[in-house]
Amino acid sequence: MDSEHPEESGRKSIYGDHLAELENIRKELMERVDRLRTRIREETGYDPIEHCLSRIKSEESMREKCVRKGLPQTEESALFKIHDAIGMRIVCAFLNDVYMVRDYLLGFEDIQIVQEKDYIKNAKPGGYRSLHLIIKMESGYYAEIQIRTISMDTWAVLEHQLTYKKNISGSKELIASELKRCADELASTDLSLQTIKDMINGDI
Ligand code: GTP
Ligand code: MG
Repeated sequence: MDSEHPEESGRKSIYGDHLAELENIRKELMERVDRLRTRIREETGYDPIEHCLSRIKSEESMREKCVRKGLPQTEESALFKIHDAIGMRIVCAFLNDVYMVRDYLLGFEDIQIVQEKDYIKNAKPGGYRSLHLIIKMESGYYAEIQIRTISMDTWAVLEHQLTYKKNISGSKELIASELKRCADELASTDLSLQTIKDMINGDI
């Protein structure tokens, strides 16, 4: 995840004066997830979260996204038209944990879920899997929360590393289908691991 905010050129940040506020909200969200982990551990005796990352979208990525979405490169676009200026990634060990974390987040009364995309039930054509929530907070700011298993995260991180801004010289079709195969194998492993966990717990 990128996090540079080059303002040295004297150009005004696309976030205007709101960068510090965004940073505070990001930190608060991280603290809430930490407290949620403690609460879930107390309620279930189990911590479903492996790790959690967050970032403020870099100046460059936000401007690029505005262009890509046909939006003017303004504070209004960056804060209210695009909803992932604040991004959080929650990585869970097992498949069911993803939905457990989602359900807990849905229970927060001061957080509105404005969009949910389940790329686990409906994987992207390239093989990407993850559960995406766009949340709106009382402050009016938005954040994107990606919840995924370790396997899904492994694939997404490596796929990004392999293909992002790369001049691909091999067959694009073959590379894409090999990546898709890896994603599908990992998805099948996730199902097996969930089954093993359920057997160990005596749930099946
Ligand atoms: P963006 O304009 O890219 O944000 O797309 P979108 O607004 O339609 O959102 P989408 O739900 O497609 O997901 C956006 C985010 O999910 C990206 O910024 C990535 O972090 C992640 N993502 C989506 N597809 C892929 C993928 O194929 N590979 C990887 N590695 N990450 C992906
Ligand atoms: Mg997005």
